[in-house]
Amino acid sequence: MTHVTQIDSSAGSVTARVPAKVNLQLSVGPLRDDGYHDLVTVFHAVSLFDEVTVRKADRTSVAVTGEGGPAVPLGPVNLAVRAAVALARATGRRGRGASGVRIEIRKRIPIAAGLAGGSADAAAALVACNELWRTGLSVAELGHIGAQIGSDVPFALSGGTAVGLGRGERLTTALVSGSYHWVLAFGAAGLATPDVYAACDRLRAARVARDGEPSEVPAPQLSTDLMAALRSGDPAAVGPLLSNDLQPAALSLQPLLRRALSAGREHGALGAIVSGSGPTCAFLAAEPDAARDLAVAITGAGVCRAVVQVAGPAQGACVVESGALA
Ligand code: C5P
Repeated sequence: MTHVTQIDSSAGSVTARVPAKVNLQLSVGPLRDDGYHDLVTVFHAVSLFDEVTVRKADRTSVAVTGEGGPAVPLGPVNLAVRAAVALARATGRRGRGASGVRIEIRKRIPIAAGLAGGSADAAAALVACNELWRTGLSVAELGHIGAQIGSDVPFALSGGTAVGLGRGERLTTALVSGSYHWVLAFGAAGLATPDVYAACDRLRAARVARDGEPSEVPAPQLSTDLMAALRSGDPAAVGPLLSNDLQPAALSLQPLLRRALSAGREHGALGAIVSGSGPTCAFLAAEPDAARDLAVAITGAGVCRAVVQVAGPAQGACVVESGALA
């Protein structure tokens, strides 16, 4: 008689899934002394997910596959590695020889795209290591650790739709009805977030010099119209209210993005906007069939590298498979 032993490939490992985000509003205030800008932003998580698997190991290492994988830095600067190290330190594991972890990242969120893909991977690593090590931290506690790694990490943990203040790390859940259907158009080349913020500062300084605008950048304000439209659940009301102060800066660095935005509008998008620091463009559609037609039309216009159809709000980082050994 033959005995077949079932090998559980997840034994000793934990996998977490984490969404990309778009910003429905991104209002950029003055540059702060710490090099960041005060923001008022409305984050919206969408159904484009990275997956991060962690398992205990003698030393910490990371491997990345999928969308943009070869360009993701490995080693201690990798945001998922930094997240695992920060969690180990915060929970007293570090230095006890128990904090080594093998991290595998499967990417679908493009890098340097304005979709917070790096912060997403850090958030997934926090959630996965929290389960692997049974450290039992709450989402708020993980968010506190994550905010040191990237401004968008707390939102990647919470997901849904949320107002972000400060650097974007101080979150309040937004009341939203229904779901929203999007087409995301990926650019051929990425944009580094600090470059886009710096371009935003330069454009503002040029306006002050040229048009005599006041040199003081006003404190950003939450759009009450956008919040009301989100509560109503009507994408036709939300579309025209999408706004992004970083869009002119992203367009100044990649002028061809204008063509992508125009193509989306011409083909019936309810709203067309650069996502975060770009260069991904996000197009809002009335319902899934309209999003599919829009995706086909934008692909046909040949104005971007690839398109995906997604929906929001999506759930924040969560464990999807756990073989964590007690
Ligand atoms: O927080 P994160 O590491 O994602 O930020 C990357 C860069 O983006 C910062 O170093 C800064 O140049 C810019 N940034 C900013 N203001 C923010 C968030 C990010 O200037 N609120």
